[in-house]
Amino acid sequence: MNDQSDSNSAQSTPQGVVAGSIPLFAGHPSHDLIPIQDFQRTVESAFSQNVWRLFDYGDEQGNPDLIQFLVERFNQREHLNITSDNLMILAGSTGGVTMITNLLTQAGDTILVDSPSYRDALHIFRDHHIDMRAIPIDEGGVIVAEMVKTLETLKAENRLPKFYYVVPTFQNPTGITLSQARREAIIELSQQYGFVIVEDDVYSEIRFVDEIPPSFFGLAGGKNALRLGTFSKTLSPGLRMGWLLGDTEQIQRFVTSGKLRMGGGANPFTAKIVADYCKSGAWDTHIEWLRGQYQTRRDVALTALKQHMPDSVTWTYPQGGYFIWVTLPEHIHVADFEKIANQNDVYFASGMGFYVNPDDGKHNLRLSFSFVPHDDMKRGIVVLGQLVKELSVE
Ligand SMILES: Cc1ncc(COP(=O)(O)O)c(C=O)c1O
Repeated sequence: MNDQSDSNSAQSTPQGVVAGSIPLFAGHPSHDLIPIQDFQRTVESAFSQNVWRLFDYGDEQGNPDLIQFLVERFNQREHLNITSDNLMILAGSTGGVTMITNLLTQAGDTILVDSPSYRDALHIFRDHHIDMRAIPIDEGGVIVAEMVKTLETLKAENRLPKFYYVVPTFQNPTGITLSQARREAIIELSQQYGFVIVEDDVYSEIRFVDEIPPSFFGLAGGKNALRLGTFSKTLSPGLRMGWLLGDTEQIQRFVTSGKLRMGGGANPFTAKIVADYCKSGAWDTHIEWLRGQYQTRRDVALTALKQHMPDSVTWTYPQGGYFIWVTLPEHIHVADFEKIANQNDVYFASGMGFYVNPDDGKHNLRLSFSFVPHDDMKRGIVVLGQLVKELSVE
């Protein structure tokens, strides 16, 4: 799409990428999927208008044009009934997870998470000394009966959870989507046991199917559910731009927090550019195009896995998002496998990082199909398949 000379090559190595390697761990958009020329035009146009607006502190709640754009888009596309009081702009979804943890919990409080769940969120919860209770998932998402068991145990201990953190659609790391029936059951549990649902909804736009289940926020009528979103996956992570949906009281509480008061809202410069870009219609056109690009990448990965992995290896079939979750045979420990793969210049995300109890992921790894070119994806999977075979010889 872009003809920039810089690509996903050895010269350009974003976060954690070893030059010259095949980074199948990288959950970033590939450089050729980032619309830099449209962005450049938007920046130039913003500089030709009221340029000082770009350089001032912003509103605590975030850029009003961006808020308005997102509110109208949600109401139109998902038939929500929200106003600008239900949405605030954030410095990425990660900023939101940190803010929510800061304001809704204290050290020692309990929360619920999926097992496995998003590694960097677990990291934030650990930083805050939160007591995480992990609930297993299957191909339909978190197992509700297991959640009930945990809630009953916590009730008996008098330490009911403050919130349940979940990536409900095309989950990181497994690519699994939580079914609508389970979402509805969990909303009932949240009312019964009094916890907030925090849904980290960063992949739902990257879908390869027509229909996905409604969000927790939508199903719960906007009550007791906080929904995070981001521009990182559909535009670029370097923008550090995301949003939070919640009921008006919750949003007010976050907007008046010390950090935003003092900091003048999330990244006002970027927010103005992103607002102009979105209002031009370019974002929606880009998302439509992206879905096809990522679907092709997923298909390349699934075909390569089918061709090159022995029968002892299994994996998920994501309907969207960035990730495939691979299960190795019992005799291969992922830490050993990772060492050998790295020696062969292939890097993946070890399953162990995605669990509260790391040992639960000792036979798993996450492959990302978002970042590497098709040929590297295939070459990387050929190498991994070969290594599994070598490690399986008696
Ligand atoms: C579930 C989940 N939440 C949040 C993020 C990060 O989002 P942001 O760049 O908006 O902080 C990611 C990116 O990998 C993710 O997978």
